[in-house]
Amino acid sequence: GGEALAKEKHKDIVNVSHRGASGYAPEHTLVSYQMGEKMHGDYIEIDLQMTKDGQLIAMHDEKLDRTTNGTGLVKDYTLAEIKQLDAGSWFNEKYPESANPNYEGLQVPTLEEVFKKFGKNARYYIETKSPETYPGMEKELLRLIDKYDINKKTLLIQSFSPQSLKIMNELDPSVNLIQLISYKNDAVITDDEIAAIKEYAMGVGPNHTYLNEEYVQKVVNSGLELHPYTVNDKDRMKQLIDWGVTGMFTNFPDKLHEVKKGK
Ligand code: G3P
Ligand code: CA
Repeated sequence: GGEALAKEKHKDIVNVSHRGASGYAPEHTLVSYQMGEKMHGDYIEIDLQMTKDGQLIAMHDEKLDRTTNGTGLVKDYTLAEIKQLDAGSWFNEKYPESANPNYEGLQVPTLEEVFKKFGKNARYYIETKSPETYPGMEKELLRLIDKYDINKKTLLIQSFSPQSLKIMNELDPSVNLIQLISYKNDAVITDDEIAAIKEYAMGVGPNHTYLNEEYVQKVVNSGLELHPYTVNDKDRMKQLIDWGVTGMFTNFPDKLHEVKKGK
């Protein structure tokens, strides 16, 4: 009956640990990613920036200021310099209720370190950030994916930049891609837009704020995956699942796990 169907729907929802379990630990640290796995996140979400010496690191912002004790642009610093920084203490200061002395002095991880720690069969959901600032980042990303023999069946690459995704698609058509979208008001998508995205991507990742049931149904019925970001409220998670999304990004993978269990 309907109830059984609703349960089925909940079961397969892809749980993406956004920047790791970043509601509980400093985003984009190995600790945060590990916590995401423990909390039943299916995927580790990783944002990529590139250092002055061409190393891919896990960081959301182009600048070091918010999530480390450094200042200025990532692209102006070598990896050795960025490795000196403290990527954890800011979290303790900003979120005293979740502070942990073990977070002090955590380092910014390279993508290589993440691959080494979590292995080839972990599920990675990797975003090329500011690809226009970092020419060659797609090629370097693919080099590391191949070097560490990352399982491509479960790998997802995401970007707001269609250009970056198309480069990925040309370099390696076997990699599954997700087109991120940022809506500023009521989300609408045309048949032409869906068709254009389907040329290279297997899903879309819109901000959840302005979604509605009609949008969700249209996208999912077209055969695209739909993974809204960043959903941190359990009632909103339930609503989006009822509308038909196929997964979502959350800073609280434990909450989404509970929702999937019907709690
Ligand atoms: O990648 C999904 C979501 O994280 C996109 O927004 O700014 O948090 O990377 P942002
Ligand atoms: Ca992201």
